[in-house]
Amino acid sequence: MIKRVPSKIKSFKVCKLTTYISNYITLNFDQSAKDFVFVQSNPEDLANRPTIKGYDFNNGVDYGKLFESYINTGFQASSVGQAIEEINRMLNWRLSDEPLAEGEENNVEERKNTRTKIFLGYTSNLVSSGVRETIRYLVQHSMVDVLVTTAGGVEEDFIKCLAPTYLGEFSLPGADLRRRGLNRIGNLLVPNDNYCKFEDWIMPILDKMVDEQTNNGTLWTPSRVINRLGKEINNEESIYYWAWKNNIPVFCPAITDGSIGDMMYFHSYNKPGLVLDLITDIRNINNHAIYSKKTGMIILGGGVIKHHICNANLFRNGAEFAVYLNTGQEFDGSDSGARPDEAVSWGKIKVTAKPVKIYAEATVVFPILVAETFAKNFKEKSPQELLMNKRDIF
Ligand SMILES: NC(=O)c1ccc[n+]([C@@H]2O[C@H](COP(=O)([O-])OP(=O)(O)OC[C@H]3O[C@@H](n4cnc5c(N)ncnc54)[C@H](O)[C@@H]3O)[C@@H](O)[C@H]2O)c1
Repeated sequence: MIKRVPSKIKSFKVCKLTTYISNYITLNFDQSAKDFVFVQSNPEDLANRPTIKGYDFNNGVDYGKLFESYINTGFQASSVGQAIEEINRMLNWRLSDEPLAEGEENNVEERKNTRTKIFLGYTSNLVSSGVRETIRYLVQHSMVDVLVTTAGGVEEDFIKCLAPTYLGEFSLPGADLRRRGLNRIGNLLVPNDNYCKFEDWIMPILDKMVDEQTNNGTLWTPSRVINRLGKEINNEESIYYWAWKNNIPVFCPAITDGSIGDMMYFHSYNKPGLVLDLITDIRNINNHAIYSKKTGMIILGGGVIKHHICNANLFRNGAEFAVYLNTGQEFDGSDSGARPDEAVSWGKIKVTAKPVKIYAEATVVFPILVAETFAKNFKEKSPQELLMNKRDIF
């Protein structure tokens, strides 16, 4: 047993220290003590592991190669690389890759065109940010099948069609901004005037919704409201214009927790009676998960959007593919911070899946993920493919 380390050891430089300890042990101790310090490594343990190597800028600035190098760079860069692979697996899968199930008809065209149903979730602030344009691109080209967001993620998209959001600073003092009628979202600024424009735009539409409910028996759900607003905005910059156009459902179970809820509150005094049905929407999103051959989840941020997608996938015994991108930590037991493995324990992600969590801020990373997956392999969908992957069947 080592009783004490001689005081002169303190004066050694680090590189000499190991040699010194090694000699010290050789001279003074039996073989077992030496074995404890220098446990032999077995090369077989590392046989299938890539070596760590980052990008070499002597090769010039090549963003494609730079992002390709992420997977072997380590830390969160490797998670980004793994997420790129996971999303490409989602995109590349076709039913025709699988053997025919027992009793299944061999409809070659149908099997070739049946893809993974992709659920994309994002927190409100991401629509406030420029990630809105990345999401709009995906929806515009029918690259995702089901959207889930929170109230701000709906209204901020419409408000941006009416008036811009500005870059501010995280440090701008709240009291001063309040006096100036400016609202801060991180380092973004939204003038109060934008919400007045939103009010002027949405109130007559809410009037029509009440009339349609009364006269035609229309049953409004949050997803039907968003679909209708997408049609009414009639603006190609909007995520929800394209969601309406491409028949992509948008689920927002907490639709009243934002300016849109404020509008519904005021409206309920001017023209009472609008009813939103949540149960039809929960049937819709759960059935989207159940009646899919495979599902993939791409979830930006946490909270309601993360759980709503995962919970729907519980009804199919778990999604086949999953990418989480968020800043949440698990030590507090929050759902926001929970790693994919927690969802595996609940049956929300399949035990056979290779899910990835990236710990990062989404505005930095999501455009890179899209560049290396959806955008890189972009091919407009054929009418058959769109038909085969209907989104409005429930
Ligand atoms: N612009 C807005 O942010 C806005 C506007 C109006 C209403 N609201 C309302 O605020 C409530 C809370 O918002 P929420 O549920 O959308 O999410 P949130 O802002 O509360 O975020 C939930 C979690 O997601 C993760 N996250 C958030 N932003 C991230 C980012 N940029 N990168 C990586 N991870 C990130 C964090 O772990 C965070 O704790 C909702 O009801 C929403 O409607 C928000």
